[in-house]
Amino acid sequence: MNIPEIFETMDYGPAPESATEALAWLADSGNKFGHFINGEFTKPGKCFESRNPATDEVLALISHGSQKDVNAAVAAARKSQGKWARLSGHQRAKHLYALARLLQKHSRMFAVLETLDNGKPIRESRDIDIPLVARHFYYHAGMAQLMDSEMPDAEALGVCGQIIPWNFPLLMLAWKIAPAIAMGNTVLLKPAEYTSLTALLFGQICQEAGLPKGVVNIVTGDGATGEMIVNHSDIDKIAFTGSTGVGRRIREATAGSGKALTLELGGKSPYIVFDDADLDSAIEGLVDAIWFNAGQVCCAGSRLIVQEGIAERFYAKLRTRMDGLRIGDPLDKCIDVGAIVDPVQLRTITEMVERGGKEGTVYQAGIIPEVGSYFPPTLITALHSSAYLMQEEIFGPVLVATTFRTPAEAVELANNTRFGLAATVWTENINLALDIAPKLVSGIVWINATNLFDAAAGFGGVRESGFGREGGWEGLRAYTRTKSTTKPLNRIDAEPAPENPDVIGMDRTAKLYIGGKQARPDGAYSAAVWSPRGALLGHKSLANRKDVRNAVEAAAAANGWGKTTAHLRAQILFYLAENLSARSAEFAARIHDLTGVHAKNATAEVEASVSRLFTYAAWADKLDGAAKPVPMRGIALALNEPVGIISCFCPDEAPLLGLISTIAPAIAMGNRIIAVASEPYPLTATDFYQVLDTSDVPAGVVNILTGSHIELAPHLAGHANVDAVWSFSSTDLTKTIEKESAANLKRTWTNRCRSRDWLGTEGEGREFLYQSTEIKTVWVPYGE
Ligand code: NAI
Repeated sequence: MNIPEIFETMDYGPAPESATEALAWLADSGNKFGHFINGEFTKPGKCFESRNPATDEVLALISHGSQKDVNAAVAAARKSQGKWARLSGHQRAKHLYALARLLQKHSRMFAVLETLDNGKPIRESRDIDIPLVARHFYYHAGMAQLMDSEMPDAEALGVCGQIIPWNFPLLMLAWKIAPAIAMGNTVLLKPAEYTSLTALLFGQICQEAGLPKGVVNIVTGDGATGEMIVNHSDIDKIAFTGSTGVGRRIREATAGSGKALTLELGGKSPYIVFDDADLDSAIEGLVDAIWFNAGQVCCAGSRLIVQEGIAERFYAKLRTRMDGLRIGDPLDKCIDVGAIVDPVQLRTITEMVERGGKEGTVYQAGIIPEVGSYFPPTLITALHSSAYLMQEEIFGPVLVATTFRTPAEAVELANNTRFGLAATVWTENINLALDIAPKLVSGIVWINATNLFDAAAGFGGVRESGFGREGGWEGLRAYTRTKSTTKPLNRIDAEPAPENPDVIGMDRTAKLYIGGKQARPDGAYSAAVWSPRGALLGHKSLANRKDVRNAVEAAAAANGWGKTTAHLRAQILFYLAENLSARSAEFAARIHDLTGVHAKNATAEVEASVSRLFTYAAWADKLDGAAKPVPMRGIALALNEPVGIISCFCPDEAPLLGLISTIAPAIAMGNRIIAVASEPYPLTATDFYQVLDTSDVPAGVVNILTGSHIELAPHLAGHANVDAVWSFSSTDLTKTIEKESAANLKRTWTNRCRSRDWLGTEGEGREFLYQSTEIKTVWVPYGE
């Protein structure tokens, strides 16, 4: 096309970005790469091909990481970790800063290489991915600098295994590596098999920046190499971004291994358009939501939910806009939609649309190139909310749509998914938007915008979208732990029945406490509770799977608790403290009888329990959220929300204080709790019903079960309606809980058989509050 012709049609002329430099870089390496281990590139081993999905041409041969390679990388990371963590925050900050500067210096090279390897438009890699990569290293250079002063109790976890997907290859690398090394960890990162090239170039940048050897190691390979990393015994933490299926397998594989874990998984994020929205903006938003990176985005706004009255008009506008999208050579600066990462992914998308498209009306726009992996922008309307394509993540440029009538219905449809990553709300009514945002079950909400990201704002999901946050102060929790001097915790057994029991008085069997009422155990079994001196103190009920089910149902019915004001929750916690205090002598006597501790210590435990209730009454309305300084006109609000239904296996070391120390933070933050009382010393918990009954705690907010921890753990950890499971039991439940939690990918927090000083500072505070909250980031751009 010549210039007069372009003027004639007003079509875009071709504006190709040159790939010469990037191809020369590949050629310099012989188009064949080894791994980056201990600051050096290894000789290429057994290789696989990495292709350009836009042309099907082979770009390079990439080494398939073997067990030997993974071992070498872990050894290098281990060797360097202590020294790296002992550097001052300032020294580490300088290294991160050097990386940020070099990333900026080579930004065009990175952008072109990313586009060649992944197929995303150069506009995106150049203007979004790579600037965000540099921003992450700058931001975390700052975090390294501030770690010593702002996080004096935090320390690095050690060696982190990081496994990333192919949709944002270098950006995911930055999200993983920058916070990890800022906090003093060393890493072994595995890029996805389709997109290893920018990670390898980053290895070169690490050399150029003089990063100490072994701090960053990169091993390439596919899922088999990923599994070797997951299963390696000398790794302290696994951070994974990718599909929910693989995330679930990793949860199971790491269960009980002692490895920390964060998972950032898939989504089916709703994009809600109200009838008062600025429709043209909402259409442009949709282009970014579902055709950015050809929809291969975990938080893609892939489920359009549009108000019925404007639906037809909106679809018509959308189809017109789709017709204008330019699909083709990703290196062309005027291209909107590039290639799909690989023919395998293209096949998946094609098959899904073939299977599910029949349930609705399919509209496809644009002409796709004959060569390369392309899929046309697709809109599928008239789908039922339970339709296959409404529920399954497609991970391609395919938008599915349905309609709603009322705001309540919009929320219901939006939450009708097993995922919970992101959500978008379009309305000119900010009251409505801010009313809807907290009701959406997701880690991120964008108001009148979409796909906004920044290093200062937390990113991550709930439900089957995973757990943990990346970015912001909250992201650092995934790479640090609180310094502690805990000792191993030995199992505390119940007192055995004496040889010649001296049973006098009435038989008293403490019932379970479910939905604000005492409940007989479903199985009608109980067990005697003896004092160390051989006196029969009473009987405890033995809860079973059906009691668990009933307790979860009761907790689910009490979902209004999370919507009450923090002030009300504070008042109720103060009231609980007052009512416990009024009966302190009775509780002290019970602790003394059960455990045999000195009366003075038993009294101290009750006093500490009263004080702890005060602590969380205080915190109920003081765990502030944050307004994040993101680089745009607008704010990103970090809101603390309740996790939902938490189940806790209470500590045996301090039967009353342990119960209070776990119940109180959970309910202070608006959660409902199913507490399984200390197994050897359950009767303080059952005495506590009366305190709950007299303190205005609504039915179902606190439920108490007694019985065998080992028997109840799989039922609670595997229950689909329980959102988090904690264990401080002296019975080792970690492996069972972590394994069973894979069912709905709930959060877990266990003591890993380490003791905790419940009377001291370890027994309360921010760690408990963090475990009781989910941070939701709500982005609110503003301005006319
Ligand atoms: P995937 O989850 O299989 O791959 C992601 C990463 O995990 C890659 O580095 C891969 O080599 C590694 N991996 C695969 N199996 C592993 C295992 N057993 N243990 C350890 N590491 C393992 O994603 P895939 O197959 O590339 O894409 C399949 C689907 O996953 C997509 O269609 C999409 O729905 C979803 N996906 C979601 C992403 C997200 O960001 N949420 C990113 C990529 C894919």
